[in-house]
Amino acid sequence: MHFKLIVNGKTAQVDAPADMPLLWVLRDLLQMHGTKYGCGIGECGACTVHLNGEPVRSCSTTVAEASKGHITTIEGLSADGSHPVQMAWKEIDVPQCGYCQCGQIMSAAALLAHKPHPTDKDIDAAMDGNLCRCGTYTRIRQAIHRAAELKAQHSPGTAKPAAAHKASNGGSK
Ligand code: FES
Ligand code: FES
Repeated sequence: MHFKLIVNGKTAQVDAPADMPLLWVLRDLLQMHGTKYGCGIGECGACTVHLNGEPVRSCSTTVAEASKGHITTIEGLSADGSHPVQMAWKEIDVPQCGYCQCGQIMSAAALLAHKPHPTDKDIDAAMDGNLCRCGTYTRIRQAIHRAAELKAQHSPGTAKPAAAHKASNGGSK
């Protein structure tokens, strides 16, 4: 079947079976390799992208479902790595092997879009389905608080004291 997708604001035309996972459409048909394959059954979060701003597992989302909305991948989060989550990830030096991190960043970006100042509990709930075999969870939480600060700095009038960041700042590298 023929599908018209909107990926990172651009239209892409693909021919694929209706039940083909979006993950393979992105990686194999559109040559966008930032989105990773981990488990293939919706359990690890490595393949997370946004569909209409919501985090979804692209391994468990069909191309037919994805064609009904706007898809954002890690390649489209920012043109130059300037999204607050990406900047915080670099500043805190979150990744270890890096394999899970695109999915982590996409989940974190969706969280901050809905909750500009998430608590540790909010973070744990939103990031629960994103696994990291290297155990970078403490730095991920720290980086999300830092990204919230960076985002607030770029949104005049919404800045808030950094108490939450300080409270979760005890992680080691
Ligand atoms: S590859 Fe999609 S959740 Fe693991
Ligand atoms: S950084 Fe290695 S799996 Fe998360």
